[in-house]
Amino acid sequence: MINDLHGFIPALAGNVAIITGGHTGLGFGTSIELAKHGARVYIASRSEAKFKDAKRDIIAEHPEADIRLLKLDLADLDSVREAAEWFSHQELSLHLLINNAGVMCVPYEETKEGFEMQVAVNYIGHFLFTELLLPMLQRTIEKADKGSVRIVNVSSDGHAKLAPKEGIVFSDMNMKNFSVWARYGHSKLANVLHAKELAKRYPDILTFSLHPGTVKTNLSAGPISSTPLYRLIKPLVELGAPGPRKGAANILFAAVSPSLKREADNGAYLLPVGKVSAPSKAGSDAKMAENLWDWTVNALRSRGY
Ligand SMILES: NC(=O)c1ccc[n+]([C@@H]2O[C@H](COP(=O)([O-])OP(=O)(O)OC[C@H]3O[C@@H](n4cnc5c(N)ncnc54)[C@H](OP(=O)(O)O)[C@@H]3O)[C@@H](O)[C@H]2O)c1
Repeated sequence: MINDLHGFIPALAGNVAIITGGHTGLGFGTSIELAKHGARVYIASRSEAKFKDAKRDIIAEHPEADIRLLKLDLADLDSVREAAEWFSHQELSLHLLINNAGVMCVPYEETKEGFEMQVAVNYIGHFLFTELLLPMLQRTIEKADKGSVRIVNVSSDGHAKLAPKEGIVFSDMNMKNFSVWARYGHSKLANVLHAKELAKRYPDILTFSLHPGTVKTNLSAGPISSTPLYRLIKPLVELGAPGPRKGAANILFAAVSPSLKREADNGAYLLPVGKVSAPSKAGSDAKMAENLWDWTVNALRSRGY
């Protein structure tokens, strides 16, 4: 029964949350639970139609839910900037930023800013979005309950299994000659390192990265489009996997569980559910996290962002 799934979620009235990709999959599972517990939830989505469907489904279950659209295309940095600006005119506070949206193993393509699609959506778009919302997150700390202002980067255990063993490929961030899987793992490693560096630079905000577990969602559309044989192994990969309502547990835990503490846990990587765990060797590399931050800031500034 859905109501018993996530007993660790406290009352969230007065809290404001943004969930990227919050209209579907794990994002939907997160949005509905946060809204159910009283948070005002901004679903950051590139599709108004998909947002409306999600809002309809949430309201059908929880008529009192406060669900709003934040228009955002992470593959377009102008859209990212506009979304952050628009949001800062809507709200005075932001308690939870959940960087959840993602693509997996989509065929090679570059955004108009020249970034490969997986690293662009999964990491660079989220980096800029987070950077632009940091002032608001910091202002919120002054008036919020201790530990309630958080950033959650939804990564994957693919950061360890699929990324190049040496870690971030600074000389070739688009990785055109690597496999789609290596590019996915690389972007997810960037999510882990980003969380680690955020926790170091902004210690008053609780920041986590995590693997949600294997969950049945639309994410497999990517590998099916780039690797048609994936359709055959998909049932095996997803054997016994939960759906997104249950599968959102680790994201929700990272976002709101009072048992995670700033002093002990900030910057941690979580395995489901709520298990503070060591990421890969590269994902634990503080110098790599710092270098990735600098690389990203340079890449954004050189393009006018
Ligand atoms: N499912 C798993 O087993 C699993 C395992 C490990 C990690 N993860 C991670 O979990 C996160 C959520 O994935 P999911 O499994 O819930 O997959 P999903 O159902 O495919 O959801 C992905 C979400 O990302 C959004 N998105 C994609 N490109 C976007 C863009 N350019 N701008 C804004 N939003 C965009 C999608 O929106 P549209 O509907 O508009 O495409 C969708 O809402 C991802 O970061 C993924 O890497 C999932």
